[in-house]
Amino acid sequence: MRIILLGPPGSGKGTQGDLLGEHYGFPRISTGDLLRAEVGAGTPVGLEAKKAMDSGGLVDDDVVNEMIRRRIGRNDCGKGYILDGFPRTIPQAEQLNAINSKREEVVADIRVADERLVERLSARRVCSCGAVFHAINRRPQIEDVCDACGGRLIRRGDDSPEVIRERLRVYHELTEPLIVFYRQKGNYFSVNGEADVQTVFAAIRSKLKDWILEN
Ligand code: AP5
Repeated sequence: MRIILLGPPGSGKGTQGDLLGEHYGFPRISTGDLLRAEVGAGTPVGLEAKKAMDSGGLVDDDVVNEMIRRRIGRNDCGKGYILDGFPRTIPQAEQLNAINSKREEVVADIRVADERLVERLSARRVCSCGAVFHAINRRPQIEDVCDACGGRLIRRGDDSPEVIRERLRVYHELTEPLIVFYRQKGNYFSVNGEADVQTVFAAIRSKLKDWILEN
């Protein structure tokens, strides 16, 4: 089983991906996290990707496709996996199908209006351990300190208002066409991502019941 989380920047793909991963025992694979690891390690891929990421654009399809091909070939993906932020273009979706067309697949689209997203992302705080907080909705126990590891919380470089607006523009132009693509495949559903985190989680799980047998 492959669960694809679709949705604009800040819609909650990472938040819901973690909850779903824990619930079903599937790894969450985020191309954003994979790319940030390359940037952090200063690899040639990371240096190239950084330009696109800093400006709110997309990293080259070939680079991301290769990253995903390698990652989903690993043993922990045998039972199933959750894709967060991939595919983001029609060519990426076609490539995913070419890598593994036999895997059962379902697409959950988390819908949130643009104005809400600017507010959410401006208030997001992240830790290098991967934990995600929100200055209003999900505050850490101690200000700017990660509840999970005690690390310092920071604002992501691409969470500035200008870059958020560009990420949203790119989403509408290049990623939104995937809604029609997957609707035509017949494996798509959407949920209201403006509800609170647990309500969104319950809505996704309820729709997933048609595809995944719950224990
Ligand atoms: P990536 O890291 O994937 O960024 P994104 O898609 O823009 O998504 P975000 O991580 O910003 O948001 P999210 O939907 O995960 O929301 P979250 O759960 O954190 O990608 C970064 C960059 O890498 C891209 O711009 C691109 O350059 C490149 N890239 C990545 N994948 C690529 C690909 N496939 N092809 C090419 N380039 C690629 O939640 C956001 C905030 O809201 C948090 O503070 C959270 O606590 C809060 N929140 C979550 N849910 C709720 C709720 N229900 N109510 C209130 N607050 C909530």
